[in-house]
Amino acid sequence: MTTPSTLESVWPLFTLRLRTPRLELTPIRDEHMPALVDAALAGIHPPERMPFGVPWTDAPPARLAHDLATYHWSRRAKSTPQLWAIGFTVLLDGRPIGIQEVTADQFLDRRAITSGSWLSAAHQGRGFGREMRAAVLLFAFDELGAQYAETNALDWNAASLAVSARLGYREVGRQPTESRPGVPETQIDLRVSRAEFIRPHWTLTVSGAEAARRELLEDAELRVPTAPGEEIPADASITSRSTQRSATDHE
Ligand SMILES: CC(C)(COP(=O)(O)OP(=O)(O)OC[C@H]1O[C@@H](n2cnc3c(N)ncnc32)[C@H](O)[C@@H]1OP(=O)(O)O)[C@@H](O)C(=O)NCCC(=O)NCCS
Repeated sequence: MTTPSTLESVWPLFTLRLRTPRLELTPIRDEHMPALVDAALAGIHPPERMPFGVPWTDAPPARLAHDLATYHWSRRAKSTPQLWAIGFTVLLDGRPIGIQEVTADQFLDRRAITSGSWLSAAHQGRGFGREMRAAVLLFAFDELGAQYAETNALDWNAASLAVSARLGYREVGRQPTESRPGVPETQIDLRVSRAEFIRPHWTLTVSGAEAARRELLEDAELRVPTAPGEEIPADASITSRSTQRSATDHE
């Protein structure tokens, strides 16, 4: 008789867990969705200024709930080793407080990940944003063999830019964009290499890394570098906002 299937055997990425001193990050499960919607509806940013490339927080509550769920379900379902996305639920004391997303396009060639995130306003300004971003950088650099991490933020988004700066990202470009239709903005593109990454003083505890490597890296012979100076040359520019716009875009 064959062993009965479990959700984790059907979708091995569900075994992935990143633990920081205060937070746990794990790929979004359906049972997280109601609390994630409530976290978003409780407010993420003042209404006057839209930090995201897609103004998804402007939607009425029912629409926002629908869009948040379908965006993450769809990205998950369409993930392949060539183009993948992991939306991590950020849990504080077991309760979802936001999302940290990591995406990669042609990871095996570029060895670069892009991130986006949000936290419910009540949980902002307490160092969680930095802690969750550091978690996914440690995972990408040390477990997946990434060489670069990229992100972007609008030029007025002090919190997002501060998180990036504290972790060692540097500006690599600026470009005009729109946060809402007809609202011109300036987007700052940022990048940090594995060697430039300013590591936190704490250690990340990872479970499910082997399953993640199998799912995301296919059977590729990917050597995870061990020396901080070890790098491969950058072969591509920052992914444009238009190709990475998302519902976490979200950063
Ligand atoms: C961006 C975001 C995820 C950052 O998370 P956070 O928990 O608020 O940030 P942290 O508390 O980790 O702060 C990190 C650093 O930014 C600084 N910072 C935080 N808010 C700031 C603000 N409004 N102005 C200036 N600096 C700020 C902190 O002082 C801290 O620096 P330090 O480590 O030297 O003390 C969160 O603020 C958020 O969800 N914002 C709304 C959505 C958003 O803008 N997402 C990103 C779109 S690009």
